[in-house]
Amino acid sequence: MPPTAIDVFAKVRGHERAEQLRAAREADLVPYFRRIDSVSAPVVEVEGAERIMLGSNNYLGLTGDPRVKQAARDALERYGTGLTGSRFMNGTIELHLELESELAAWMGTEAALVFTTGHQANLGAIGTLLEPGDTVVVDSGDHASILDGAILSRAKLRPFRHNRLDKLERTLEKAATDGGGVLVVVDGVFSMEGDVAPLPEIAELCRRYGARLMVDEAHALGVLGARGAGTCELLDVEDRVDLRMATFSKSLASCGGVIAGPAEVIEYLQISARPFMFTAAGVPAAVGAALAATRICRSPEGPELFARVLDNAAYLETGLSNLGYGVVTSAGATTPIVPVVVGDDWKAVLLWRALYDAGVYVNVALHPAVPPGGALLRASVMATHDRAVLDRALETFASVKRAFEAEHGPLPGH
Ligand SMILES: Cc1ncc(COP(=O)(O)O)c(C=O)c1O
Repeated sequence: MPPTAIDVFAKVRGHERAEQLRAAREADLVPYFRRIDSVSAPVVEVEGAERIMLGSNNYLGLTGDPRVKQAARDALERYGTGLTGSRFMNGTIELHLELESELAAWMGTEAALVFTTGHQANLGAIGTLLEPGDTVVVDSGDHASILDGAILSRAKLRPFRHNRLDKLERTLEKAATDGGGVLVVVDGVFSMEGDVAPLPEIAELCRRYGARLMVDEAHALGVLGARGAGTCELLDVEDRVDLRMATFSKSLASCGGVIAGPAEVIEYLQISARPFMFTAAGVPAAVGAALAATRICRSPEGPELFARVLDNAAYLETGLSNLGYGVVTSAGATTPIVPVVVGDDWKAVLLWRALYDAGVYVNVALHPAVPPGGALLRASVMATHDRAVLDRALETFASVKRAFEAEHGPLPGH
């Protein structure tokens, strides 16, 4: 390499997290990439030991459901292992079309478009509908895929402080002078903190400032609302939200994503969204599984499952609060996500490891997934957790807290 050339690989050696990662690896404290050895169920095998799974987005517990598995098998037998092409070309099968019409009917929109992942759905919708000259307004807690869509669009990005309506209004005032169209994008349920966006107020502000509103329902479809159609249904704003996104990688027990909205927008995305057109369609088994899970949600069994997961979340939330953990409660609604504030990154990792060794698996959210100094343990429940398992988890949380605080000092309370 010539002496003046800058090596683009240099950053992989000297990045800001390198030292921290090295120390964590040496102490076997890295909470990521742990090997799961069984289906995502209330109790799973992780790296050779049984652990209570409180770190999954399998909210309805459908990834092991015999009907969903059979639908995946049927799709595999009928269409083979892969579609080897984009939806746009040779990658659309009957199951995509059925799934799109089921999802549009469920979410109460004119049309829906199925993408290979939820990340690509956000990328495709935001990155295509906005262009240089437009403005995209995002909540600072929005999912990374929303920001990636904004970056792809090259529209002006205007973030506002998480769930702060006064900041949103000020941002909309500024956006109105930018000179282009304005799209506000928020998560219905925020993925790390599990709190709910104040959608009626946000929709009203969007109406007042002439902005379009898009809601990411990744953690809400199949959970919130009487039909399980998500935060927009729960907060009764379905007719005031212009576009909705959801993923199949949570309640729908599969992999894929969807944009639901007016037919003219969906038709435009079909022929313009690069993350839709220039990637292979999801494998048939994934589409078949998502379709079967959607049908279960829309059957009389759906509301029972939605109630059960939320009941479990409330039970875990109360149990952890009673133990003195700093549980973040959502004023808007109970969601399947039960975050526990730890604050310091190292403390969060050490607490995670203590719980892991004691047989409870949770996720850890460190900066940049959360603000600096805002490290969380992100616990989440499934409809299929029973009280005996949740009680066992709570007993573990209790004994781990006692031992942890004796060694490392008090954890933040609630
Ligand atoms: C809020 C939110 N939006 C979008 C996504 C992306 O979905 P997918 O996993 O299907 O790519 C996720 C999940 O990772 C998410 O939590």
